[in-house]
Amino acid sequence: MPSRRSFLAMTAAAPLALPARGATRPVRLVAAERPATLPGRSGTSPLWTYGGDWPLALSVRRGEAFEAVLENRLADHTSIHWHGVRVPFAMDGVPHVTQKPVEPGQDFTYRFSPPDPGTFFFHPHCDTMQALSRGLAGVLIVEDPREEGLFDADHLLVLKDWRVRPDGGFEPFSTDAGAARAGTFGGLRTVNGAAAPALKAPPGARIRLRVVNIDPTRVPVLELAGAEGRVIATDGNACAPFPVQGWALGPAMRAEIAFIQPARPGAEVVLRDVWGQEAFPLARIITEGAARGADRRPLRLPEAELPEPQLKGAPVIEMSLLTGHADPKLEAWMKETGMSLDALCLSERIFWSINRRAWPGMSHEHLPPPLAELKSGRSYVIEMLNGTPHRHPMHLHGHTFKVLGSNQRRLPPHWADTVLVEPKERLRIAFVAGEPGDWMFHCHIIEHQETGMMGYFRVS
Ligand code: C2O
Ligand code: CU
Repeated sequence: MPSRRSFLAMTAAAPLALPARGATRPVRLVAAERPATLPGRSGTSPLWTYGGDWPLALSVRRGEAFEAVLENRLADHTSIHWHGVRVPFAMDGVPHVTQKPVEPGQDFTYRFSPPDPGTFFFHPHCDTMQALSRGLAGVLIVEDPREEGLFDADHLLVLKDWRVRPDGGFEPFSTDAGAARAGTFGGLRTVNGAAAPALKAPPGARIRLRVVNIDPTRVPVLELAGAEGRVIATDGNACAPFPVQGWALGPAMRAEIAFIQPARPGAEVVLRDVWGQEAFPLARIITEGAARGADRRPLRLPEAELPEPQLKGAPVIEMSLLTGHADPKLEAWMKETGMSLDALCLSERIFWSINRRAWPGMSHEHLPPPLAELKSGRSYVIEMLNGTPHRHPMHLHGHTFKVLGSNQRRLPPHWADTVLVEPKERLRIAFVAGEPGDWMFHCHIIEHQETGMMGYFRVS
């Protein structure tokens, strides 16, 4: 389990941890409003959390049975999507599509055995802009026995901004101006709930940073100053190490970074975001304590073990990411069935679309056509074409895909569940279609998702 410092003063009880191996006691995730004080604020903010520390981190071993009971103590329905984990369809946490919404006062038990090691996260899948903005998310670390002893220190860094006033009250989470462009940004930037936290590490220590971007909007461009940092895993999946410098971490993306802590006491390694005019420090790691022995093993993870797509003969399906407009077919369908936008987790505003459709996930009884129909076990190439002036971190549920390449830039070969598509870019991914079901495919700038940039692939 990576170490983690929690900075928010929570009113909740003891931190959550998983039961000892072999035990069957499930984790309880009690979704509720819990006021907490954010850095530099004079009063508390009405956060929504799952209880315990913030950020909340759970860990489980690869392949081991995991059980979590979600208890809903919020005023509206909720569910949990296990982002990036190749879960069975019924555990994917999309209301109306994979399960009934969990109503206030009700609970739902999630059970699965995570097949892949790595750093994942979880969050609701309706009213997500509000929920994520208030902090309702957690990290799931899937441990791999093959990684034991590879690192001297393992730190979790959870990136999230807050739209919060000096008195602690929240500002409106979404604005039309933001939703129709790059998103509505939070002014208070935090890592693990703190402003640029400082960690300590012994000279020569082998460090692993698990950087998780749970922000619904911001795309930091990472840089590690003071040490030679390499990305060793993308979205939790091991990759051939490549330099951190310039790696853009879109909403929902994770990057694991490995480096050797410099020997000089007091030396500082700084993880920063170099997107803006001035580099913004995210976290510092300061050399302190007794030197570590010279472990010369390469700083990399055992290779990812994922279904390898067969590219030869694989159908190529195009997904055009476009701006949106109201869909007359959707409107007619809603009139006919009496479905409301609310029940569909959809906002009235439509700014975005995929293949000219601005469609959310709908109820199973009245399902609109999928974006694509796939056969379980077959390989597919999806070519995404960004016809908008903004970047979109595109996420596919329940699958880990291979990023094949772009017509615009050199990308290191890597596995992902969320990939940034730049304006005018054509980017190809490939994967083996998994378990039958309707798997959501959407932008993870949540305001884009909620204003049209969402659909699903039907696997049968
Ligand atoms: Cu983390 Cu459907 O998303
Ligand atoms: Cu987007």
